[in-house]
Amino acid sequence: MAQLEKGERGEPGRVDTTRLQEIARAYTRSAVLFTAIDVELFTHVHQGADTEPALAAATGLSPVDIDRLVTCCLSLDLLRWAESGALRLENAPDVDRYLVKGERGYAGPWMHFTRPQVVDWFRMTELMREGEPTRLGMYEDLTPEAARKYHRATSSIGFGAARRFVRGVDLAGRRRLLDLGGGSGAYSITAVKAFEGLAATVLDLPPVVAVTQEYIALHDVVGRVDTLGADFTQGAFPACDVVVMASNLPIYDGVVIAGVAARAFRALEPGGEMHLIGEMLDDDRRGPLDAAMWGMNELICGSQGRAHTRAECAGYLAAAGFTDVEISDFIPGSLARAFGRKPA
Ligand SMILES: C[S@@+](CC[C@H](N)C(=O)[O-])C[C@H]1O[C@@H](n2cnc3c(N)ncnc32)[C@H](O)[C@@H]1O
Repeated sequence: MAQLEKGERGEPGRVDTTRLQEIARAYTRSAVLFTAIDVELFTHVHQGADTEPALAAATGLSPVDIDRLVTCCLSLDLLRWAESGALRLENAPDVDRYLVKGERGYAGPWMHFTRPQVVDWFRMTELMREGEPTRLGMYEDLTPEAARKYHRATSSIGFGAARRFVRGVDLAGRRRLLDLGGGSGAYSITAVKAFEGLAATVLDLPPVVAVTQEYIALHDVVGRVDTLGADFTQGAFPACDVVVMASNLPIYDGVVIAGVAARAFRALEPGGEMHLIGEMLDDDRRGPLDAAMWGMNELICGSQGRAHTRAECAGYLAAAGFTDVEISDFIPGSLARAFGRKPA
């Protein structure tokens, strides 16, 4: 059977409007997900309200709205029919793991993280016509309260990513990790727990490190993880033998990221290593879509940031002087990791 090309749906060789219509109404999917989380639909299903009448009772919504919501969630493969039959519902595996309130993996705050920007996404044309952004990054007006809320959202996925990092990167024998834009401290906290003898410094903006200290205390690593309130776009970094910068890439343009890599290189001991983790585009910029959209998110936030390709990220490290530069998948289809070593 002939392959379908991008832009084709249905019969191979025939172009129709199906894909374009799906894109035009893609916002409806986000809205359904937000509402399902708002009314705790998946939490109720998990707790046993697994029929439509039971969901209507648990959520207080009308039977017809439950019918609509369940139908959409079934079509989005967020809900499934249980094999046991009798029109019983169950959550899809990812929904059950991450969207059940009160469970350890609950990522509801992260799913809502960009919801306040929905209106501005639909003002994209005006924003582009209004002209050049003037802010360097999206963090210029941050308050500790905003930082606390922000990191309640990011930490729900940051700690998972950090666990993946320590499973894949051997830091045995390393002594001081510098975590640039470390936020909740997810990477530092997880790394010092995984590697004996390792200490870490979370460098983040002054309003954020007050919040970082709360996570450090919560995870019982006071004394092994400390904080430095600073702006990583300027100034020298403290001495270290590992630098991690995670989930900051699209927030800044290439000049800033290259500058960070150069100053990280100077701070590292000979033989030290840097890991740049984040959304990276494939070199032909045909995806991943999520990386492209995080770049566009910077327009919405009014910053100069944009999505970077894997080759650009490798180039920032190489230009700083790093050798053995390598890019690997970190979370396939979402995040990549650029590695570089300072020559011994
Ligand atoms: C998306 S969060 C990532 C947090 C953490 N690295 C993680 O992966 O869980 C980005 C962090 O970078 C920090 N950040 C952004 N710009 C910064 C700057 N110029 N100087 C210091 N920190 C910055 C933000 O305050 C925020 O805590």
